[in-house]
Amino acid sequence: MGEKTARVTQAHGSAPLSGTVALPGDKSISHRALILGALASGRTHISGLLRSQDVMATAQALRDMGAQIEPDGEDWLVTGCGVGGLRQPGNDLDFGNSGTAVRLMMGVIGGHDLSARLIGDRSLSSRPMGRVLIPLKLMGLQVVGEQSDMLPLSLRGSSDLVPIRYELPVASAQVKSAIMLAGLHAPGQTIIIEPKPTRDHSERMMRHFGADIAVKELDGGGREITVNGHAELVGCEVIVPGDPSSAAFMVAGALIVPGSELLVKNVLVNPTRTGFYSTLQEMGADLQFENERDAAGEPVADIRVKHGPLKGVVVPPERAPSMIDEYPVLAALAAYASGETRMEGLEELRVKESDRLMATKTGLDQAGVVSHIDGDALVVQGCGGNDRVPGGGLVATHMDHRIAMSFLILGLGSEQPMSVDDVSIIDTSFPGFLDLMNDLGARMGTAA
Ligand code: S3P
Repeated sequence: MGEKTARVTQAHGSAPLSGTVALPGDKSISHRALILGALASGRTHISGLLRSQDVMATAQALRDMGAQIEPDGEDWLVTGCGVGGLRQPGNDLDFGNSGTAVRLMMGVIGGHDLSARLIGDRSLSSRPMGRVLIPLKLMGLQVVGEQSDMLPLSLRGSSDLVPIRYELPVASAQVKSAIMLAGLHAPGQTIIIEPKPTRDHSERMMRHFGADIAVKELDGGGREITVNGHAELVGCEVIVPGDPSSAAFMVAGALIVPGSELLVKNVLVNPTRTGFYSTLQEMGADLQFENERDAAGEPVADIRVKHGPLKGVVVPPERAPSMIDEYPVLAALAAYASGETRMEGLEELRVKESDRLMATKTGLDQAGVVSHIDGDALVVQGCGGNDRVPGGGLVATHMDHRIAMSFLILGLGSEQPMSVDDVSIIDTSFPGFLDLMNDLGARMGTAA
């Protein structure tokens, strides 16, 4: 996938944000809908799929392996090959910037008697894959010519996988999902123990497609997930709700700019994803959840947010999996709160699309906001109350979409405009972000 030319973009102090937001589809659910559609027999109809580069990387890899995936107006149709029915790709599988795409597809490849070479962009090629390869190798996946645990990697799957019982050493929904996907192809029961619960979209969607998945709550908050293998998946209707990780940017913008009020429609409010919103409520944010409902097995609501003062809080480490992608934008928001915000248990941020802990801290430095890293915690001194957030700096995004969006949002209330060095990477998760923000009243555009 070609890497685009960088475009420096600036966010200026904004008039109040107002209006109703139609969100793009949830990224995690979109990947899973395509993958399970491709592993099902018959046709799957998907509405609300996120049309971003990351999700299109999953679609292309599945097409390269024989699934039919095509747009149908606003929706998508997937014609699956059945569990174990994908075929040898004729080219390298290119996952671009997407950790979710490559790690979930490793689980799929693991269950097929085929070879595939997996590649990605510079950011993805520096991210650890061992966390997925270790359990998959126990199941029978082979890494050919193994030298490192990073892309590019050549894998050889097997139609004769062995089910395992595996306790996750890191709280990762990607690792859990890769093992679950491999487990669909293995005989007997594949059992995964997660000491800290992570997003459970794979569990919900596999059931929606007809797989036999059991989930047991464990003492201490963990979960045990059992996948009954040699599953039969049947094509179905999938409705992808709006992405709460994308909604976080609009909600944060509204909380930063005085006088703002937004209604963000159709937000996924699965409790494994709402840690950011719980934190905002603890900070004193005016948030209302309206019209709560179910969309094909996932809870959804409309979120109304009004600007108001925020206070600093301590975000406990056990909340991290439920808001893992929202820390950069929470850090931007914490700059506007009164007092200190301390976010704990952020070790996983070091292995995201960038070292997000460092990129966030450096971005705050550029904005003139005082912060420090304390072990695995990030501590931000809010300027709320009497002082204004200075702004004025240029933030290095390091090929990380969430760093780019977070510091543009910070610039909506700062004294001086904030610049980010590259916004093209935003298309990996949120195409149309700048236009959508500007339609709500923000001032974001190419730097003069
Ligand atoms: C995701 C899981 C999380 C998250 C990523 C999407 C998923 O990653 O950061 O954006 O869809 O399973 P980890 O599994 O590495 O925590």
